[in-house]
Amino acid sequence: MSEKAEIKIDGKTYELPTLVGSENEKAIDISSFRAQSGVITIDPGFKNTGSTKSAITFLDGEKGILRYRGYPIDQLAENSTFLEVAYLLIYGNLPSAEKLAGFEKDITNHTLVHEDIKKLLDGFPYTSHPMGVLSSLVTSLTAFYPMSLDPNRSAGEVNLSIIRILAKMPTFAAWAYKNQLGQPILYPDNKLDYCGNFLKMMFGLPTEDYHPEPIVVDALNKLLILHADHEQNCSTSTVRIVGSSQASLYASLSAGINALWGPLHGGANQAVIEMLEGIKQDGGDTKKWMAKAKDKDDPFRLMGFGHRVYKNFDPRAKIIKKAADEVLGKLGIQDPVLDIAKGLEEEALNDPYFVERKLYPNVDFYSGIIYRALGIPTEMFTVMFALGRLPGWIAQWKEMRENKEPIGRPRQVYVGETARDYVPVNKR
Ligand code: SDX
Repeated sequence: MSEKAEIKIDGKTYELPTLVGSENEKAIDISSFRAQSGVITIDPGFKNTGSTKSAITFLDGEKGILRYRGYPIDQLAENSTFLEVAYLLIYGNLPSAEKLAGFEKDITNHTLVHEDIKKLLDGFPYTSHPMGVLSSLVTSLTAFYPMSLDPNRSAGEVNLSIIRILAKMPTFAAWAYKNQLGQPILYPDNKLDYCGNFLKMMFGLPTEDYHPEPIVVDALNKLLILHADHEQNCSTSTVRIVGSSQASLYASLSAGINALWGPLHGGANQAVIEMLEGIKQDGGDTKKWMAKAKDKDDPFRLMGFGHRVYKNFDPRAKIIKKAADEVLGKLGIQDPVLDIAKGLEEEALNDPYFVERKLYPNVDFYSGIIYRALGIPTEMFTVMFALGRLPGWIAQWKEMRENKEPIGRPRQVYVGETARDYVPVNKR
């Protein structure tokens, strides 16, 4: 029998059931509270409110723990591949060698996109931000694969929609970049693995051979694994709530891409590099910028710092910071913004403002430095985040659908005008 919680209001006491998760997280189930009391709860930004029960990813913000389906993120980042992690997140367990090979083959065989999608791409001016192009191209799949519109199709048909978007997202991402450059697009090369194929479509040219460097492929694999899921973050909650209306997988994913775009979320990796570049241009005076970040009257925030859940080190940031040193070292790159980033981190970790608010570097603080070292331009950083987060969004959408969760429709407390009668315009 689960422990009961009590809420006392208007002189009455209401008993509510509680639940305990597999990692001993406790929740009060308030789903019956309004029916009993006529009262709702309110929690702007859902800082203290759970939206679902999920078996995909576990975070412990106080201890800085992140696990995908129970596997610690550092073990996966060190030993796995992005497609193996995608399989784990979506289907729940690590695949056998045979199943992984079949999954990789299925994805390889779906990397091409309909030729008419090039006409859509041609409609975007070179000034288009690649995130807007990406979300549009993902939505366009509903036109080319009408079967994907109905999420209630057979499990096999839903799985085909999943394979298609996993396979085509790298193609879309690379083509969005080529569109910005005004360079010809490259078709996928099915002789290469997932990351190698993406890098070739990004940096290859029809006029010369391109062979992705193993160090770059390995670094990209690790970065995509680290971004693959993160429980009920803003963009994942968006994918789940859009999917809860029985909108298609592709419509839900496109909504998630747009939610990720914001600078407080996935757009932070682009904002971090722009911030570090600005500090470098301004003479590298990190103390001045730290003061601005703490000044309530100054809208400037230290991008890449702070997190809604992590009140300790973001485990991903630690792994990425180590990888940044390794990748830049192996590629022989000296990037001054890495030194500025380390200086800011050092100052923030010893500054009462940041310490009291438990503001630590998050996944976005160092990721841009590696992307830059890999030759990926700043405006593509959030596209890289979306590429990594794709299997997580898919897994969460699939879980919501399989659990037959109700359509998401929060309540509100109305604070506007009370009833009043209409007055004709000539009498106002
Ligand atoms: C991601 O949710 C996820 O899991 C997201 C993510 C994922 O994998 O999906 O991890 C990816 O989005 C990482 C976060 C990337 N965003 C940034 O780096 C942008 C900078 N960070 C902040 O905007 C902020 O920390 C958030 C948005 C990340 C979290 O904001 P919260 O939880 O709403 O906290 P808050 O804004 O209420 O801040 C609490 C206090 C405030 O000060 P006080 O009002 O208490 O005086 O901390 C301050 C804030 O002003 N604060 C900062 C700060 N972040 C918080 N002050 C200066 N610089 C910052 N970066």
